[in-house]
Amino acid sequence: MPTDDAPLLRALSGDRPERAPVWFMRQAGRSLPEYRELRVGTRMLDACLNPQLAAEITLQPVRRHGVDAAIFFSDIVVPLRLAGVAVEIEPGRGPVFAEPVRSVAQIDALTAIDPAMVAAAAQPVRDAIALITAELGDTPLIGFAGAPFTLAAYLVEGGPSKEHLRARALMHAEPDAWNRLANWLALIAGEFLGAQVDAGASAVQLFDSWAGSLSPEDYRRFVAPHAHTALAAVRGRVPLIHFGVGTGAILADMRLDGLVDAVGVDWRTPLDAAAEVLGPDVTVQGNIDPALLQAPWPVLEAHVRDVLRRGRHARAHVVNLGHGVPPETDPDVLTRLVRLVHEERG
Ligand code: CP3
Repeated sequence: MPTDDAPLLRALSGDRPERAPVWFMRQAGRSLPEYRELRVGTRMLDACLNPQLAAEITLQPVRRHGVDAAIFFSDIVVPLRLAGVAVEIEPGRGPVFAEPVRSVAQIDALTAIDPAMVAAAAQPVRDAIALITAELGDTPLIGFAGAPFTLAAYLVEGGPSKEHLRARALMHAEPDAWNRLANWLALIAGEFLGAQVDAGASAVQLFDSWAGSLSPEDYRRFVAPHAHTALAAVRGRVPLIHFGVGTGAILADMRLDGLVDAVGVDWRTPLDAAAEVLGPDVTVQGNIDPALLQAPWPVLEAHVRDVLRRGRHARAHVVNLGHGVPPETDPDVLTRLVRLVHEERG
């Protein structure tokens, strides 16, 4: 494969390339004027399912910043849309469902949908990825999916929430129904990942963005087994990255018993401490504080050098932010940051 020697894939396999690979969560999106221009008049999920648009938006940050990977432009709720669930993304708010799924009867109705529907309806995804990989050459494309808990956090509430109380209550109040729901969400996430890998994605990331709201015990009992199911759909085919925010207390659990190749760490846990907890068999990804993208350059530069220094404690390091690019970020700062990482020893 043309991507075989790509620094990202080498780092995910535990190798330390001469320079550390760098990409950014949410590198495609509102920080780029060329993105905002393309999106005028098209709803978010319609853009995700338009192969030409999704391909062009995926490629924009690669051309502009020279990052070491593209991440597929899509959304965690796309597989739900493909399964026929009524969901929209409200600008400035996030995913909103016409009907929150809360009762056991609603969970039974939803989980009666065959997860294979997602793969069958995913042709726009496969078409977009064919266009993307044709242009990317030796730069890898990262596919992704939302983890069952993070998806459920939206689905059970009906929209964005701060503490995800209803989803967290459900796992205790109706553990069997919770497990049916989370297993189904894992299967549709797995179908979505499989479609992306079939079409040419070189690695995948599972976003369990809100897993940090769980106690370690709840994470282990009600959530980790389902994240495992989602990623196991593509195990052995491509490297697996697992990411969440506020996960300091569950980092070791996020290895999913050795299933994953890399764990994404937010800005709260220094990478040397993360490496200590994660051990020698996992690559770390992260963890530049997105807030510092607004700071004067010398402050950001010192922070990036510190992140790189701490990252050397892990078997390998994929440089990223600790969470997504904030929409108000000056894109020139990201370009400069890529150049800085590439000038440093990996
Ligand atoms: O990282 C990338 O560049 C790839 C594309 C990507 C998007 N969403 C595009 C997007 C990825 C990987 C996601 C994942 C996603 N979506 C997550 C997990 C990652 C994370 O940030 O923790 C979550 C929780 C969602 C749900 C979601 N979708 C939210 C909270 C929002 C933001 C709503 C808003 O307007 O503030 C979205 C919409 C969304 N997804 C946008 C983009 C570029 C913004 C849409 C727009 O341009 O209006």
